[in-house]
Amino acid sequence: MPKRLAVLTSGGDAPGMNAAIRAVVRAGLAEGWEVLGIRRGYAGLLAGEIRPLGARDVGGIIQLGGTILGSARCPEFKTPAGIRRAVEVLSQNGVDALVVIGGNGSQQGAYALSREGVPVVGVASTIDNDLWGSDITIGVDTALNVALEAIDRIKTTASSHNRAFLVEVMGNDCGYLALMAGIAGGAEAVVIPEVPVSPESVAETIHEAYAKGKPHAIVVVAEGAAYNAQKLAEYFQQKRLGYELRVTVLGHVQRGGAPGAFDRLLGTRLGVAAVEALARGETGVLVGQLKGEMATTPLADVAGKKKPLDPKLFELAQVLAR
Ligand code: ADP
Ligand code: F6P
Repeated sequence: MPKRLAVLTSGGDAPGMNAAIRAVVRAGLAEGWEVLGIRRGYAGLLAGEIRPLGARDVGGIIQLGGTILGSARCPEFKTPAGIRRAVEVLSQNGVDALVVIGGNGSQQGAYALSREGVPVVGVASTIDNDLWGSDITIGVDTALNVALEAIDRIKTTASSHNRAFLVEVMGNDCGYLALMAGIAGGAEAVVIPEVPVSPESVAETIHEAYAKGKPHAIVVVAEGAAYNAQKLAEYFQQKRLGYELRVTVLGHVQRGGAPGAFDRLLGTRLGVAAVEALARGETGVLVGQLKGEMATTPLADVAGKKKPLDPKLFELAQVLAR
């Protein structure tokens, strides 16, 4: 059992990370451990930005977006020298175990540390929902709801002007957010990296939507698609369309802001589950939600893998867009 536990948030932030930090700190304290917070992910770890966290330090944060610890991307950490330095800093600070709250890259980093003998537990957190070992990750639900609010709003103005819209959503090279936003937002088409489409076929779908009597055509585009919103717009610019087309890129609006109930609860449950795993001596694992339950998966299985998208959902999006 660790006596001194450290926690960090890494990579792209996600609404609900603060709930996870709070849960790790308070559950760790309940075990009788000391808890330290590392600022700015692996960058702060290398720089030794570590301070104790008490129960009051994590008060009033469950409803806040972002992460009170800050987050960063740290190329230096990926190098053998970076990993060695990280192990050294942890040892100098008497850290017995580390909780890494983050997405794919961050969990690869956690795995690298665990291979060096550091007891690590990862917490599944990324709005992209591409992490192996968790059906859903911290931040996805909130990001999806932000996208839906935007799509709902865009639809009203699109209908007033009989316009077509390309709405680009985040997700890195994963189409999950775009697909789910498309289905739940009632989009006419969804463009995702997993299913390559030609701009001609997107134009055809928009054309068909108008031919069916629809007052608008909403195309949800994943930022990682070969034809993202900008590339599609360039294609459409060269055509005589017979309708007006506008582009909205949601970008970081989707990642910012307060977490919804689902992400507060998921962050809390996963944070507590990480501490429980450490308490029973289970390390080198990711805690995620599988079939509704908190579950651990070896980091060795998680690192470098990407959770595939269910192709049936893409077919469903097409059926529902009739
Ligand atoms: P996310 O965790 O949100 O997917 P990134 O992919 O940017 O974000 O990764 C966050 C950080 O994790 C990187 O800046 C780097 O410090 C670390 N990291 C990423 N990939 C690896 C790797 N293969 N080995 C070690 N560390 C990694
Ligand atoms: O991984 C989360 C994510 O928001 C991706 O969806 C997006 O591609 C990327 O991070 C954006 O990163 P940055 O905040 O560095 O621009």
